[in-house]
Amino acid sequence: MMEMDKLVSLCRRRGFLFQSSEIYGGLNGFWDYGPLGVELKRNVREAWWRDMVTGHNDLATLPGAPESFEMTGLDCTIIMHPQVWKCSGHYDLFHDQMVDCRESKRRYRYDQVRGRWVEAKGDRIFVATVAETADEQDDVQRRALKYFNLRAKDAGELAWDGDFHALPQVPDLSRVLGPEATQLGTLTEPREFNLMFKTFVGALGGEESAAFLRPETAQGIFVNFKNVLDSSRVRIPFGIAQIGKSFRNEITPRNFTFRSREFEQMEIEFFCHPGQSNQWYQFWRDRRLAWYTHLGLAGERLRLREHAPAELSHYSTGTADIEYAFPFLPPGDYGELEGIAHRGDFDLRSHMEGKLDPRTCPLELEKDADGKPRWRGSGKDLTYRDDQSGERYIPHVIEPSAGADRATLAFLCEAYSEDEAPDEHGAPQKRVVLKLHPRLAPIKAAVFPLVKKDGMPEIAQDVYLSLKAHFSVFYDEKGAVGRRYRRQDEAGTPFCITVDGQTLADRTVTIRDRDSLRQWRVRVDDCVSELTKLLNPGAARV
Ligand code: GAP
Repeated sequence: MMEMDKLVSLCRRRGFLFQSSEIYGGLNGFWDYGPLGVELKRNVREAWWRDMVTGHNDLATLPGAPESFEMTGLDCTIIMHPQVWKCSGHYDLFHDQMVDCRESKRRYRYDQVRGRWVEAKGDRIFVATVAETADEQDDVQRRALKYFNLRAKDAGELAWDGDFHALPQVPDLSRVLGPEATQLGTLTEPREFNLMFKTFVGALGGEESAAFLRPETAQGIFVNFKNVLDSSRVRIPFGIAQIGKSFRNEITPRNFTFRSREFEQMEIEFFCHPGQSNQWYQFWRDRRLAWYTHLGLAGERLRLREHAPAELSHYSTGTADIEYAFPFLPPGDYGELEGIAHRGDFDLRSHMEGKLDPRTCPLELEKDADGKPRWRGSGKDLTYRDDQSGERYIPHVIEPSAGADRATLAFLCEAYSEDEAPDEHGAPQKRVVLKLHPRLAPIKAAVFPLVKKDGMPEIAQDVYLSLKAHFSVFYDEKGAVGRRYRRQDEAGTPFCITVDGQTLADRTVTIRDRDSLRQWRVRVDDCVSELTKLLNPGAARV
């Protein structure tokens, strides 16, 4: 399996991802996309928007769908009226449990601290760690040795008991050596921590002007439901899509971009008749899984996990996660790429009547100690009237909610491979190659003159210009051609086009396929049509 640090180093070296504000030491949980990364992530977003929204055929009934449906989009603000988050439940419920270390003054997410029991010198302690999976054992061993005042050569005196497990499974925190502590029992009992970033709107800065950076894009869609209905003549069933930044003050951001504090979501709220909502849930679950498969996440590292009934909210009849076995996770563990949730009418009713209590069934308004609504809704009518049947109802919602950064990271992990390719003398050389789907590749083709003389650069530049009008292409004439191929392999460029001695005689160029290394000749004038064919192999979009 690919080691994560190889991918991290490639991402940095080739300009896919950098730490945010790196020259000042970086800021934990924030990442910048470099010149290649920005193109890759844009392609992920554009593939999603094209496949889900602009390319959607409103007239056809897709396989597995109960009927045809419309798709439309929105782009809402990051800061919204604070009441939105009270009615959505984020103000009261969007918490993680954290523990503080009284010695190191560090704060950790309770469920993300792991560790192992160890016994030495008649004492048994739980050594906790937040190190990445590959470094966990080294970290706990080093700290256990220090705690028991043993040297590295005495590591055999440490009797490890059981495998790594998470801190919530440890009943007594007084036996725990915190991740950066030297003494036992320095971790506090778990406490709740709201993940929303708070800010202030306007110059006054008091509690009345407090607002939040959105922790999800979904709520912008719910509060605009009526606007979209009234302005665009859509009829149920239909979906509203949105791509945008979301912010969560994660207690322990980790695993590269997987858990960041600023990230991008790609969300759909699909509004349907309650009687059809289960069929639509199945449809979206299968369709979203097929989208990842189509773009290259084929194989056993991708899976769909249905939540068990006990994990579901009372109002939801189904939730499934699309998960990927990221290489930084312990073997057998999967990380969430996307959740597909049946949300019933919880959101629209909460924004209409006031915050509902998600523990009730059927859903009831949440009340305060005086029996008044805990958080008032907008009072606006968010029901839908079917103009053909005359029926009025609150639509049910199916929500496929994906992360653009997690998808980008999964595509990078899946694409990374090492193999051998012949150099210019035909000798096999190790190479690193990103086997990205051509739709996602930052550069679609690179154009090279074999040497920088004999008129080759001029022809290569003409080819480059003719392609540039249609695709993202790159021109390179510097250094040995083998090295230029290697650089494009690392960037994930699916095709390289080379102008050589034969071009001068017959106006043909070679095209080299990144994955198979096959090379063939095409006429200079056919480069655009050949590349169009190669990049759109006619595979059905999902
Ligand atoms: N509206 C539903 C919602 O926001 P979620 O499961 O909390 O659901 C949806 O988030 C997706 O957003 C996740 O599947 C993941 O891809 C992405 N996501 C959530 N938190 C993230 C984080 N801290 N860093 C990167 N991506 C994140």
